[in-house]
Amino acid sequence: MADRPILMFDSGIGGLTVLREARVLMPDRRFVYVADDAGFPYGAWEEPALRQRVLELFAGLLDRFDPEISVIACNTASTVVMDALRERFVDHPFVGTVPAIKPAAERTRSGLVSVLGTPGTVKRQYTRDLIRQWASKCHVRLVGSDSLAALAETYMREGFVDEEAVRAEIAPCFIEKDGARTDIVVLACTHYPFLVNRMRKTAPWPVDWLDPAEAIARRALSLLAEIRPAVEGNRRLDGPDLAVFTSGKADFATRRLMQGFGLSVS
Ligand code: DGL
Repeated sequence: MADRPILMFDSGIGGLTVLREARVLMPDRRFVYVADDAGFPYGAWEEPALRQRVLELFAGLLDRFDPEISVIACNTASTVVMDALRERFVDHPFVGTVPAIKPAAERTRSGLVSVLGTPGTVKRQYTRDLIRQWASKCHVRLVGSDSLAALAETYMREGFVDEEAVRAEIAPCFIEKDGARTDIVVLACTHYPFLVNRMRKTAPWPVDWLDPAEAIARRALSLLAEIRPAVEGNRRLDGPDLAVFTSGKADFATRRLMQGFGLSVS
């Protein structure tokens, strides 16, 4: 019981931005990181097909790893599948990832906020409802990027990033209106924090880049405390943290990257 892992799920390596925060907050916990690389990128999937895929994968994952909780460290999946997951696996606690629109609306001074995500995330009704609910007084620009998640994958594996491509992808986030400028960009894809330094470098002016990773990790921590308040039960047993790739094919660069994050490829 004490050794049941926390499962982290993403389409690729983006969820590692959440894993690193979760590790800091829960050093005594074991983690299983699952990348649905066979389905990557999620950005272009139709909603019903993506929902179906994630539900099917979870049926197998819960059976195989028996996690204590699962974190969907992916905006594109979370904005479409959380209700279905909770309905289907009623006894299993899930933490989702949603675009940080509320904190952005609270923090902006200019009232001009951009939400940078995958094409799937920015077109979701869920995202539009968040804007209506929390940011009705702001001017929110939704920017869907076809290629940033893949650029982050390449960067993390090969150390190479095409800065001109990053510049072009983030450019639509920057707007000037009635003498005011965009001052916050919400990173609504867990891959993007890996590129944030390149984004800073290629941005036309400085902005606040909102990365929700720590907030997600904190939510997982508080959910675990609700489930099982006794901390002494959390003593970590031996055994490596695992990374699982749905393609079953993790190449050398991927294995190395996982090793860097303290994960052995299963
Ligand atoms: N990391 C994912 C997200 O947070 C999506 C990346 C992708 O599959 O395109 O939205």
